[in-house]
Amino acid sequence: MNPGIKKLQPYPFEKLAALKAGLQPPPELEAINLAIGEPAHPAPAFIQEEIMTHLHAMCQYPLTRGSEALRGAISAWLCRRYQLSGGAIDPGRHVMPVNGTREALFAFAQCVIDRESDSMVVMPNPFYQIYEGAALLAGAQPWYWNTTATTGWLPDIAAVPTAVWRRCRLLYLCSPGNPTGAVIDLATLQTLIRLADEHDFIIAADECYAEIYLDEGTPPRGLLEAAWAMGRSDFSRCMVFHSLSKRSNVPGMRSGFVAGDAALIASFLKYRTYHGCAMPGFTQAASIAAWNDEDHVRANRALYREKFDAVIDILAPVLQVERPSAGFYLWLPTPGDDTRFARDLYARKNVNVLPGSYLSREAHGVNPGGGRVRIALVAELEECLIAARRIHDFITDQ
Ligand SMILES: Cc1ncc(COP(=O)(O)O)c(C=O)c1O
Repeated sequence: MNPGIKKLQPYPFEKLAALKAGLQPPPELEAINLAIGEPAHPAPAFIQEEIMTHLHAMCQYPLTRGSEALRGAISAWLCRRYQLSGGAIDPGRHVMPVNGTREALFAFAQCVIDRESDSMVVMPNPFYQIYEGAALLAGAQPWYWNTTATTGWLPDIAAVPTAVWRRCRLLYLCSPGNPTGAVIDLATLQTLIRLADEHDFIIAADECYAEIYLDEGTPPRGLLEAAWAMGRSDFSRCMVFHSLSKRSNVPGMRSGFVAGDAALIASFLKYRTYHGCAMPGFTQAASIAAWNDEDHVRANRALYREKFDAVIDILAPVLQVERPSAGFYLWLPTPGDDTRFARDLYARKNVNVLPGSYLSREAHGVNPGGGRVRIALVAELEECLIAARRIHDFITDQ
């Protein structure tokens, strides 16, 4: 047995189910689930139609590297989104489709970590738990990089000891961050690229929330953009992970891509050929249509903006609530313990939210997710408003 299996932690939703076990919320209140980050806006009809039109593709084995048409659409999207000059991203060398970023973030560590060495994988804390599982199963030691309110939930480079950088082989970044919505700026990304050169590590930038941002004029910057601005046209040491799940409301379609350093893509392609995880042809066809269209993505952002404004209006009088720059989560400070807050809110108001401490580890003397809950504004506006009113009343009733 892989010794990492024993080290894996229960997933946050398992912990939440245990927290709620045996509780009976008032039956007259309909359950509202804001715990899971699953987009609930309707999937665009044109994407569904593309799937139907290309169902015949199920009669052929797809290629792991994806079709030229898909890689072309992804490269063109990257150049538009990050204002890279045409041709900056070579569809033949710099991109590869993946079946959602979750599996790719996991598999990437298995591909790049040398399990014979005493590697460390540095990751944000709080975090998307896949980073930790990926590090453990690759035989590496996770190093939890705390982000806190003091640093605006951003990684503080000065907080990482040089000894950690020396052992770091892989750095996971998450910008916009889950659960905090914090966005890493271009200068910080560039400093991290320089550190990667100095200490010989790879940066895996999880940018799956890059298309959900609240100021239409300020899209979050990305790792490839940072590399390109430094004159690194080979994107060496850099890999980005993008997804249609949140951008296009198709979490069940399982479509994303990785892009960056051509040598890393080549090794990852080799790994994936054995792994056997090519994207079905009909998913590829639908993904091309999705990456080629921006209208549905703008409309999607407008819906989130409306929800943030309305929910914050309701909660601001009773809680210190901040509008994040991006993502679809409220990262709400709780009066008192976050697990008690989530448990009692469920028991009294039938609203599910996720305790922040389930998304983070105790590290360097603190648990940076403690005293917060993550509220995913994924339900339709009306349901989010009902939930916000229940949270408001839950606090004022105490
Ligand atoms: C930070 C982060 N990364 C990656 C993923 C995986 O998304 P998908 O596999 O749907 O692309 C999620 C899903 O919630 C996430 O929150």
